[in-house]
Amino acid sequence: MANGEPEGSAPLRRLYGRSRGKALRAGQERLLAEALPLFSITPEVLAAGQAFAPPPREVWLEIGFGAGEHLIEQAKANPDVGLVGCEPFLNGVVAALAGFKREQLLNVRLRRGDAQALVEAAPDGFFSRVFILYPDPWPKRRHRKRRVLAVGMIEALARAMRRGGELRFVTDVDDYAGWTLKRFLASPHFRWTANRADDWRRPWPEWRPTRYEAKARKEGRGSVYLTFARL
Ligand SMILES: C[S@@+](CC[C@H](N)C(=O)[O-])C[C@H]1O[C@@H](n2cnc3c(N)ncnc32)[C@H](O)[C@@H]1O
Repeated sequence: MANGEPEGSAPLRRLYGRSRGKALRAGQERLLAEALPLFSITPEVLAAGQAFAPPPREVWLEIGFGAGEHLIEQAKANPDVGLVGCEPFLNGVVAALAGFKREQLLNVRLRRGDAQALVEAAPDGFFSRVFILYPDPWPKRRHRKRRVLAVGMIEALARAMRRGGELRFVTDVDDYAGWTLKRFLASPHFRWTANRADDWRRPWPEWRPTRYEAKARKEGRGSVYLTFARL
């Protein structure tokens, strides 16, 4: 695997957004070479049900983990759960690998690349929980098809998620919240779990703000928290 580029037979769907930032320092290059093969999974490995051995109680997926802080917190707090993270941005992948190593985590796997390929490869009902935290908003109407939940992703998630499983979504972009809610409400496979009028304002009980949430607050934007149950 050269430079952390994804391997595996399936070609990547077109990716939007940055896939790398600042050039890696020598230590980061070394970390990538050493740690990526230990933690990286391909869609083929996921499809074969070989991501974790022995199989954990549940498998949770985080789409677009950024630098991995939330993924690492979840893995530490839930050692009997397998955490799979997906992120195309190389510098984020390196930061996450450093955290996996620092925390000596055994219950994390990652894929550098597009989440859809991974979700489509997963066995039926594989994920019990899915996190989509501050996905890139693509605010222009003509760019909405670039959003991670566009083009068939909700159907793909419905198949790959266990019945009774939960999808957590948060954004600081009102238009994105409405767009997402409308799409999930139109799906026969999901139910919005809100049971109070201000539910969308409340983060999940064990929630710690991500890097993007901190940025949104600093810039004066609130967030919309949505939870969908897989029916
Ligand atoms: C705005 S950042 C949020 C990062 C992190 N979740 C947080 O809250 O701090 C969105 C992330 O989604 C990633 N991303 C973009 N397209 C993606 C895709 N198709 N599959 C998985 N991740 C994607 C980006 O690289 C970026 O790191």
